[in-house]
Amino acid sequence: MAVNLRGRSFLKILDFTPQEVRYLLDLAKNFKDMKRSGTPHRYLEGKNIVLLFEKTSTRTRCSFEVAGRDLGLGVTYLDPGSSQMGKKESIADTARVLGRMFDGIEYRGFSQDLVQELADYSGVPVWNGLTDQFHPTQMLADLLTIEEKLGHLKGVRFTYMGDARNNMGNSLMVACAKMGLHFTACAPKELFPEEGLVETCRELAAESGGSVTLTEDVEAGTKDADVIYTDIWVSMGEPDEVWETRINLLKKYQVNRAVMNNAKPEAIFMHCLPSFHDTKTTIGADIAEKFGVTEMEVTDEVFESKQSVVFDEAENRMHTIKAVIYATLC
Ligand code: CP
Ligand code: NVA
Repeated sequence: MAVNLRGRSFLKILDFTPQEVRYLLDLAKNFKDMKRSGTPHRYLEGKNIVLLFEKTSTRTRCSFEVAGRDLGLGVTYLDPGSSQMGKKESIADTARVLGRMFDGIEYRGFSQDLVQELADYSGVPVWNGLTDQFHPTQMLADLLTIEEKLGHLKGVRFTYMGDARNNMGNSLMVACAKMGLHFTACAPKELFPEEGLVETCRELAAESGGSVTLTEDVEAGTKDADVIYTDIWVSMGEPDEVWETRINLLKKYQVNRAVMNNAKPEAIFMHCLPSFHDTKTTIGADIAEKFGVTEMEVTDEVFESKQSVVFDEAENRMHTIKAVIYATLC
């Protein structure tokens, strides 16, 4: 049956069938070709979208802005300090106001319930630009990048190292399980994903031909992997006090040369970014001073190596977000 996503919100990958994800990836590829060849694609001229950010962003915000403009949309950006949302006006009221003015709403913030509430009340498609639980637009960029680099998705051995119960760990497990990849979370037990979600993903994997494995063992978890993926050790919204515990829990899960050498020779390294691979950021420098750690989730050598595809991955955020906007508003 033909896929039609018109009017749908994009809140988490769990809400979409593998065929619908496939459709979005193919659409993104078309948009990428058009962008590369300079073919105009202002298909949504006359429509308007609003971007609500309660957390900071470089890639997601810029992707929505550029994708929106390429499609001919009007784009309004609201930062955490410049709307009434939450402080003077409930989410439901904000949603109903924005839904009268805009054709689509992007939201980045804290709870998944909140982005769901926006979708329930606004009457227009809502796109999740990251919550504490899920980061679905990142998933499309990651799947597209894997397919571009390795030629396929099904059967790919994918290892995620680090905080496996954050938005990235959760989302990657779901995306891999849906699309038939073999997902391994290589992390300390304390940071394994929540059991209910693991069960759901194992059921999805049984249908797609993929698998879900959780292990604390770095050697076993990274052996012959096609993709090694990591994320920062402390996510947005977590208090600074967790840094010390998190560093101690995760230092043995750093992606370094030994990890990459244990994976397949042609394995790729991926990261959603931003990354603490050196001390050239204020947080990186601060952590180095306080704890003597100069590289965190990935060494600078791996980050800068030929195996690293992180900037292709970042570019794909824009093409895939464009596909989501188009598919849901066209
Ligand atoms: N990967 C990602 O979401 O990046 P930003 O936080 O810069 O949007
Ligand atoms: N886990 C990270 C992802 C950033 C894209 C965070 O939430 O800060």
